[in-house]
Amino acid sequence: MSTEKKRNSFSGSIGFVLAAAGSAVGLGNIWRFPYLAAKDGGGLFLVVYLVLALTFGFTLLTSEIAIGRKTKQSPLTAYSKLKSGWGFLGVLACIVPMIIMPYYCVIGGWVIKYLVAFVTGEGGIAAEDGYFTGFITANVEPIVMTVIFLAVVAFIVLRGVNKGIESFSKVLMPILVLLVFGIAVFSMTISHTDASGVTRSGLDGFKIYVIPNFEGLTVKGFFSVVMDAMGQLFYSLSVAMGIMIAYGSYVKDDANLVKSINQIEIFDTAVAFLAGAMIIPAVYTFMGTEGMAASGPSLMFVSLPKIFAAMGGVGRFVGILFFAMVLFAALTSAVSIMEAVVASFMDKFRLSRLKASLITIVIALVGGLAVCFGYNIWYFEYTLPNGAVAQILDIMDYISNNVMMPVVAIGTCILIGWVLKPKTVIEEVEKSGCKFGRKQLYIVMVRFVTPVLLLILLLKSLGIVTVI
Ligand code: ALA
Repeated sequence: MSTEKKRNSFSGSIGFVLAAAGSAVGLGNIWRFPYLAAKDGGGLFLVVYLVLALTFGFTLLTSEIAIGRKTKQSPLTAYSKLKSGWGFLGVLACIVPMIIMPYYCVIGGWVIKYLVAFVTGEGGIAAEDGYFTGFITANVEPIVMTVIFLAVVAFIVLRGVNKGIESFSKVLMPILVLLVFGIAVFSMTISHTDASGVTRSGLDGFKIYVIPNFEGLTVKGFFSVVMDAMGQLFYSLSVAMGIMIAYGSYVKDDANLVKSINQIEIFDTAVAFLAGAMIIPAVYTFMGTEGMAASGPSLMFVSLPKIFAAMGGVGRFVGILFFAMVLFAALTSAVSIMEAVVASFMDKFRLSRLKASLITIVIALVGGLAVCFGYNIWYFEYTLPNGAVAQILDIMDYISNNVMMPVVAIGTCILIGWVLKPKTVIEEVEKSGCKFGRKQLYIVMVRFVTPVLLLILLLKSLGIVTVI
């Protein structure tokens, strides 16, 4: 009882929304959303994503935030408090951020490396072939960068919910939005003539991005777009990672959850859209449609530095702004990932924030070292069930993102939709007197549509369903 009384809470809705949006807006928005949009027919993907955000994403987000606020517990203990015998789901929901955190910190370290390269005028060198591979396969530097990133994340988490997470989100998120918006506008104004004399403009790239392309679309192709959008949405909204339960547990009982959830969804979707508007026109202008096939690290650390270099003098400046923006997005997400673990240890083992953070830092460090070694002394190639060739980082991403997250989300839907019934969440949402406008939609989604879609996604990830 005493721990509940002492539990921190966000000072108000703005603090909660910015912290949750900070968690949601991360590497996923910046390096995966634009690629999927380019691959899946531009506007078609955008429409599918939006529909799923308002239905599927909204269901998972609402469920987790409500579970957090109702139980006033972080993921590890929230499920067992909600229903005895369901603690195993909390354990799974807590293991997910433990797996994601190390590799997120390693990638955060890569972002710092590139930001420093552009600030010190070495952006041109960073654009050269082999630079990225040379960096990540080096023995010491990636580890140093990982430690620096982790130190900043730990510093914010150690300061606590108000002075750390909330205060930093309130500063970083508005700057991030300004940067993404500014670079997106710039991206749409550029044009470039390549060696073969072909001139392409950012505006044409933007049109490719937003205008739906139905050419050659089949039913199977459409389902594939739906699955891509769903997988992306899931990661992007930070659901099934324990994060939204932990953040929900810091929301005051009189806060209007409906309004906050709408704002988080709008924020995350808008930034994902702007990330596409920032990246697709630039990639199209300088590399044509072939360049748009890159995603993940190769998009961010290989293609984009080449594009910044091709922009001439202004490229260095754009590169600095871009990597600063990515760093802010990665930081606020990594903070939330670490907080989900720290809060879990605090609640479960009644540890102080300092002790829980120290244990979490050790987990991140050990895991981070393994990820770094995966590119040199522990290098191997493993083919995942979905056909991708993977190293340690990709394997950790696959296990968390493709396997455990769908399992946690399916479990959450079964618990809320069938065992406890949707009224558990609905009552929590309406507790403050706010109107739950999408109540009927929520009931149908949490009981039927969301678990079925998630099961298909899981079976596809495991390579069991191959027709989609
Ligand atoms: N939601 C975070 C991201 O998109 C984890 O990267």
